[in-house]
Amino acid sequence: MERGLIVVPIGPLQSNMYIITGQSGIFIIDPSVSLEATEDFLSEIPDFYGISRGKADVKAFLLTHGHHDHIKYIEEWHKAYPKAEIFFSSKDQELLESAYWNCSYMEGKEAVYNFEYTDIAGKDDQVFYKDDEIEIKVFETPGHTMGSVCFLVRLGGKEKLFTGDTVFRGSVGRTDMHGGTSKLILKSVMRIKTFDPELEIYPGHGPDSTIEDEIRMNPFFDM
Ligand SMILES: [Fe+2]
Repeated sequence: MERGLIVVPIGPLQSNMYIITGQSGIFIIDPSVSLEATEDFLSEIPDFYGISRGKADVKAFLLTHGHHDHIKYIEEWHKAYPKAEIFFSSKDQELLESAYWNCSYMEGKEAVYNFEYTDIAGKDDQVFYKDDEIEIKVFETPGHTMGSVCFLVRLGGKEKLFTGDTVFRGSVGRTDMHGGTSKLILKSVMRIKTFDPELEIYPGHGPDSTIEDEIRMNPFFDM
């Protein structure tokens, strides 16, 4: 299987679902797109034939936070891949239990979630997944929600930071929903600002960027 990153930018509110493929398997960040829509989207790529029917080698699901537009299809995905581990911060557990707090009500749905996960709360700056080829570290970056995290993924010697709704290209996530605080998101941004300027960032919505570009043009990196 070829190494790489695929963006599936067709979740609710145009959220980005990311698929990382390594030789050891597939890692899905924010499973916000249905299995069928994902298979349609990837229909040109042989590695993903049958992904909607449990035929791909999905190793893990990584959830950046508990909002519906990022986790909408986690239960369906996990049903197709029950052996794949789900990594999530229990600091957003209460969002799973409330359609108001996970914002599914905004889509006219009342979704609550009940899935087993490996808790990454309190694992800040620690590698929680590692094999011969891939290494995944979590940074706890509260502000958009209390349990918001960023994932630093090292694959083939190169690192990428998946920022969820903490940092977007040119902006940051809203802080007016349950658990959001502007003071904490700015603190999280100040921390991200200290990372390698060349580090590529992949937000939960919109295009990718680099730390350097955000320092140059994101007003929230300058507060
Ligand atoms: Fe969000």
